[in-house]
Amino acid sequence: MMANNASGSAPRLIDRPAWRALKAHALPMRDMHLRQIFADDPKRGERLTVQAADLYLDYSKNRITNETLKLLARLADECGLAAHIDAMFSGKKINTSERRAVLESALRAPEGDRIELDGVNVVREVHEVLDHMAAFSDSVRSGRWTGFTGRAIRNVINIGIGGSDLGPVMAYEALRHYSQRDMTFRFISNVDGADFFEATRDLDPEETLFIICSKTFTTLETLTNAHTARDWCLQKLKDEKAVQRHFVAVSTNAEGVAKFGIDAANMFGFWDWVGGRYSMDSAVGLSTMLAIGPDNFHAMLAGFHAMDNHFRTAPFAQNLPALMGMLAVWNNNFLGAETVAVLPYEHYLKRFPAYLQQLTMESNGKHVTLEGATVDVCTGPIYWGEPGTNGQHSFYQLIHQGTRIIPCDFIGFGQALNPLGRHHDLLLANLIAQTEALAFGKTKEQVLAEGTPAWLAPHRICAGNRPTNTILAPRLTPQTLGQLVALYEHSVFTQGVIWNIDSFDQWGVELGKILAQRIIPELENADEPALAHDSSTNALIRRYRQLRRG
Ligand code: F6P
Repeated sequence: MMANNASGSAPRLIDRPAWRALKAHALPMRDMHLRQIFADDPKRGERLTVQAADLYLDYSKNRITNETLKLLARLADECGLAAHIDAMFSGKKINTSERRAVLESALRAPEGDRIELDGVNVVREVHEVLDHMAAFSDSVRSGRWTGFTGRAIRNVINIGIGGSDLGPVMAYEALRHYSQRDMTFRFISNVDGADFFEATRDLDPEETLFIICSKTFTTLETLTNAHTARDWCLQKLKDEKAVQRHFVAVSTNAEGVAKFGIDAANMFGFWDWVGGRYSMDSAVGLSTMLAIGPDNFHAMLAGFHAMDNHFRTAPFAQNLPALMGMLAVWNNNFLGAETVAVLPYEHYLKRFPAYLQQLTMESNGKHVTLEGATVDVCTGPIYWGEPGTNGQHSFYQLIHQGTRIIPCDFIGFGQALNPLGRHHDLLLANLIAQTEALAFGKTKEQVLAEGTPAWLAPHRICAGNRPTNTILAPRLTPQTLGQLVALYEHSVFTQGVIWNIDSFDQWGVELGKILAQRIIPELENADEPALAHDSSTNALIRRYRQLRRG
């Protein structure tokens, strides 16, 4: 099916035949209950599943039928998903508003693969950087790399924000089990000085290495924290030369890095075709490699690569990321869900929802199409979540009995990394029970049959019919983490293709940055310059000026 019309621009999404058919199909589906859907098709729990690499997805507890799946696949065809996948993997400049290729897949391509961009084999460059990272990691982990006073490095602090922080923090927490336990890893992102203070207060600069991680090397928060770190180090080490032993950089901006005083030999580069939120498997993952070692880092890359291959080659009906992306579109655009809860039943994945918030919402929080026209439908849903079982005793009440539909992604593993009595069975029993309760609920008849008085019955009824996906894998390893992240990357991509938006830019975040630059001198200048904002902004600035005086 052609993705574009004769004039070269994509037809409006709402005019596509498959979209219209899905709209008509959604009307009866909105009232269809999962109880009925399962009764009509008792084997769907085994059938509507898919395995990709180590990940098993059960998507049977979605409000879908075979017809829904057929229409969603047709929609993917009409939107040219296959051609878009090819375009991404072959290095076409699909990030049109920034005129950039999107080649995250090259970051995890095995050595020896060839992906050309403007005549350059980027896989070779990627592996050069990986080798540099590995040599550096080995020397720090072994104690060969010493600080300025000859002491081994015991503490690594990554300073970065957004994609230069969330991936590193998430991966460190997720893979902590595999980390070098006699080293301390911390992450400073917020320009709030509390973040810096708490991360450094008990550390010794002589044993501390800072990674200044910033694609642009211009980000206000990162550079402010980097300069504070420099002062903190030099206060004790009292020699500018110490900077070279205690600071390394991850960036695309060699000039900015040199200006800061970091030795060019200790800069780990990446490229403009790596988006910040897609960068945890590039040099941005240096802190991850320092924590888990080069072999484990390569295992994580192999996990990413396995999911890339699956996404690229599996037919859409068995394509895990494509299915998850299409289901997200179905729930969002046709069933009216506005959010997605991501609920890992694995405590090590506690930062995974926060990581996904940038990946999903910075990518698909867009209001215009690739051609710049206002989109006709809702785009990126709001992603959020917490690890189970903690969330069960907090916000799940609203998922079970609230008035909104909140599709949930449950993530669990067969084996615990730290087996402890019955803990893991209890954890997984809760995961599975939640998906059952959300789908099938509790009817009035069941409630009354338990002897509940009639007046209390309405409060105890759970309507059910809440859609869920369940992702299971044998064990949380570097490989499975790579697969999981790539799964969501490609699900986001699939959604973006269907909405015909640019999932790789982030112009919206610029306005706030520019306005902050204007307000900074208005707060700091003792002469209190005249204010020319709206009355609320002016009043807030004046109030802050008063408050900061104490
Ligand atoms: O402000 C948003 C953003 O540009 C993100 O996309 C990015 O991950 C983050 O800032 C950090 O940018 P940098 O790595 O250039 O410091």
